[in-house]
Amino acid sequence: MERDQIALGIDELPTKWYNIIPDLPEQLPPPKEPETGPSRMEFLAQVMIKECLSQEMSSERWISIPEEIRELYIHMGRPRPLYRARRLEKILGLKKVRLYYKREDLSPTGSHKTNTAVAQAYYALKEGKTTLSTETGAGQWGTALAYAASLLDLECVIFWVKSVYDWKVDRKTLMKLLGAKVYSSPSMETKTGKEVLSKNPNSPGSLGIAISEGLEYAETHEGSVYCLGSVLNHVLIHQSIIGLETLKQFDLIDEKPDLIIGCLGGGSNFGGIALPFIGEVLQGKRECEFLAAQSLAAPNLVKGEYKYDFGDVGEHTPLLKMYTLGHKIEMVPIKADGLRYHAAAPIISLLRHHNIIKAVAYPTDEKTIFEAARTFLQGEGWLPAPESSYAIRAGIDEALKAEKAGEEKVICMNISGHGFLDLIAYKEKLELK
Ligand SMILES: Cc1ncc(COP(=O)(O)O)c(C=O)c1O
Repeated sequence: MERDQIALGIDELPTKWYNIIPDLPEQLPPPKEPETGPSRMEFLAQVMIKECLSQEMSSERWISIPEEIRELYIHMGRPRPLYRARRLEKILGLKKVRLYYKREDLSPTGSHKTNTAVAQAYYALKEGKTTLSTETGAGQWGTALAYAASLLDLECVIFWVKSVYDWKVDRKTLMKLLGAKVYSSPSMETKTGKEVLSKNPNSPGSLGIAISEGLEYAETHEGSVYCLGSVLNHVLIHQSIIGLETLKQFDLIDEKPDLIIGCLGGGSNFGGIALPFIGEVLQGKRECEFLAAQSLAAPNLVKGEYKYDFGDVGEHTPLLKMYTLGHKIEMVPIKADGLRYHAAAPIISLLRHHNIIKAVAYPTDEKTIFEAARTFLQGEGWLPAPESSYAIRAGIDEALKAEKAGEEKVICMNISGHGFLDLIAYKEKLELK
């Protein structure tokens, strides 16, 4: 029997997360206070989960996953399978190239975001908090946090980028069913939101604005903590569960990926799969290349500048050294809204700076992206999220390039989510009647 699913047993779920900090080619530039205004570090210490902040500063290579979080991971279906994309290979006529994909779509809310959401909710509860506040772009992070809050009996308040809030009606319903309060961002709930709306009442919003609103909400509401779904070191640590499982899965079948691909907005999905492999490359234990797939709406790794910048429009965060397009940049709306962030995580940016990560950005009409998703659906039988389809586009392009060059190559795509709540986007972009 030819098996295309490579599964791990529950007992093989990793017991530790991986932190790449001690293996980086140079020390990660630390966060900095801006020259003016109040201390952003003190502000973050006030509004964020203490354990997450301590992980943020940690230089331990391995961080134990508490038993309770491992139970939650198992409850939500981890470990997740790795697939050999045999049917897609056949459609593409691949003979020399083998394509694999990791299935983060199998998460209860449809994306990788639950990996850090349940960890953050667990730590918040342990620290006596009652409410989780956050932003969301694509809606996947908001849904994941609403899910984690409901599992652990916490309240959840979500500021959702308006341009997406307006069309993702079904995902909004899911968040509300999970018991979350959901606001369109910019909103009238915060000072930042009111300021943006006073300048531009039709602002489509952005992740940067929504982050400012989530932070401000946590600051002004007792018992609330702010949870971030990407960019920061602790989020990448939690997401390392993806790559750690994938390492074991490739070992099981005695296969070594030559190229790992993930879509990248802030960098947690890409980092999640890539960092455990990059760690081994940096330790001289393996050879592998890494490719981040982005949109030209937010090509932070492709066109950004490597410098200190704020993580949000309202300048609540400290300055982080990142590839950035500038925290005030206005980005055109796209269907893969989860990729629309002005900067890439400091860890990912440093690795990009050292040329360990390559990046590609696709046009904002997203035509080739949605076509790749359709090809994938017709081969593999399930619909990827618009964001994940960027990784599929890049995976197909790289596979065809290698095949044409007569190169034997093993490519692994991390498929961050499913698109069953994004059908309107598919209908519109593929002009289905
Ligand atoms: C399905 C999906 N994939 C990928 C991303 C990109 O986020 P990140 O780069 O932090 O993984 C998002 C963000 O919302 C998402 O919803």
